[in-house]
Order: sequence, then C-alpha cells, then structure tokens
Amino acid sequence: MVWICPICQLGLEKNQHSWSCDNQHSFDQAKEGYVNLLPAHQKRSKNPGDNLEMVLGRRAIHEAQLYQPLAEALANVVAGCKHISTLLDIGSGEGYYGGFIARSAPGIAIYGIDIAKSAVKLAAKTYPDQKFAVAGARHLPVATSSVDLAMCIFSPSTDNEVARVLTQGGHYLEVGPAPRHLWQLKTALYDQPREHSELRRSLEGSALTQDGEVCYDKRLNNTQLQALVAATPLAFRGHREKKAKLREQAALTVTMAFSWRLFTLGE
Ligand SMILES: C[S@@+](CC[C@H](N)C(=O)[O-])C[C@H]1O[C@@H](n2cnc3c(N)ncnc32)[C@H](O)[C@@H]1O
Ligand SMILES: [Zn+2]
Repeated sequence: MVWICPICQLGLEKNQHSWSCDNQHSFDQAKEGYVNLLPAHQKRSKNPGDNLEMVLGRRAIHEAQLYQPLAEALANVVAGCKHISTLLDIGSGEGYYGGFIARSAPGIAIYGIDIAKSAVKLAAKTYPDQKFAVAGARHLPVATSSVDLAMCIFSPSTDNEVARVLTQGGHYLEVGPAPRHLWQLKTALYDQPREHSELRRSLEGSALTQDGEVCYDKRLNNTQLQALVAATPLAFRGHREKKAKLREQAALTVTMAFSWRLFTLGE
C-alpha cells in the first residue's frame, strides 16, 4: 500500500523527513513518524475529530483492558482471512486495535488514518512499526486496490472509498456497538435510554461473509467509569444531576456489547 498525494492523487515517496509526489507537493513527516495528509479545504473545523480528552479516555479504557475481548475477537477474524498482507484502520484513534492485531499477526503491514491529529500523534508514538496519517475517511490518501483488509471500529467510513482502496477479494470489517452496549451507564444518565441500531447487513459490491457479537459484563471502578464517559458521546449528553451522581459512584457493572460484520469485495 502507498500513501497518495491528497492534492493530485499521485503516489507519495518518502524522502528523509517528508513525503512528496512527482508534482512537488510535499508533506512533512512529524517527529512521531506520522504524516499529515489532510488539506485545509477538507477540514470542517480547526481540530476535526475526537478531542484530546476523548482520545485519552479511549487510551485509558484500552489500558484497563475493558475492550480486550473485542480486540481478541477481531484479531481472530483477521487471522481467519487468507492472504492479508496490508490492513488499513480507518478512524484508528490511538491505534489500539491495529496494535493488538499486529501482535497476533506480525506479518501484516498496518496503516491507520484518523482525522484527529491528537489521536494520530499518540498512535504513531505508541506503535512505531505502523504507519499513520492524519486524513479523513471521505478522501482516503491511499492508492486504489492496495488494501487487503480495511477496518472501521466505531468510526465513520465512506463506502465508495472503502471499495476503491480494497484489492479484489479484499475484506471490509465494520465494528460497532450492539443495541445494549453500555446499557447500565445509559440508564444512569438518561430517563429513557435508547438502544443502538443494528449494524447494516449489506454493502454494495460486497457480500456479507461473516458476522458476530461480543458481549460481556464488567465491574468498573469510578476511574474506569469516568474514562468510559469521557471517551464516548455520553460525555456531551445526559442529565447534569445524573452525571454528577455518576461521578460519585464507586463502581457499576456495565454490559459491553459489540457487533462486527465482515464483507468481502466482489463475492
Ligand atoms: C469512537 S472513536 C474510535 C477510535 C478507534 N477506532 C477505537 O475504537 O479506539 C472514532 C474515531 O473516528 C475519528 N473520526 C471521526 N470522523 C472522522 C472522519 N471523517 N475521518 C476519519 N476519522 C474520523 C475520530 O477522530 C475518532 O478517533
Ligand atoms: Zn501531488
């Protein structure tokens, strides 16, 4: 897989401290090793994507291993796919899932993009063996037909871009919350909590080849509860008084429930 120029779409080549295309567009490599391929006109705000607090909240959740059963299930799904040499994590956040998969499948070259610079910075620092770029899912700075498996975990993606970058027979792994993910937490914050909607079961030009659910309960201490709230949209929602009460709560058992779908292009 190669990064492509976000201005003229030619392949980018690595120079000593930058990446450039034959049209002399050049992008500096940051000291953490990532490259910023998000042109100003593709930005809808100064700092798009998750803010640093959310990124650190997700890092805390992952370090506390709260989502490890999901990471294990996804690593198994990837291990079960044949001929995967290149994986692209779209909306990779601070890089946890790519890092987990890299440990169980060291032969796979892992790339990650995220629109949030703070997330990419942390990911690149933590996983120096992987390649990261700041970029948006609507315009992937990735060569056509160069990715064997693209994954999108609780992140937005754009179908025609996913289809463009996948190799023929390549896979797309979509992961999201199952209807009752974090149900007890939502009950603590809302009068009438709403279930998440089901993940889609079809994707144009692809076949649904596998799917699954990962579901378990975890007893969370107060620090873990606060990290979970900070890292999710719950941070911005819910009753103020209920939120204050939750901040005082010593512990709560919470259901973690995820769905995943694996689509295969051209089947
Ligand atoms: C809920 S987080 C999930 C991060 C990571 N996949 C994980 O599970 O730890 C969603 C991520 O999508 C990123 N994001 C939001 N909009 C995006 C876009 N248009 N293109 C790329 N990334 C985007 C956010 O910055 C954030 O890091
Ligand atoms: Zn260019």
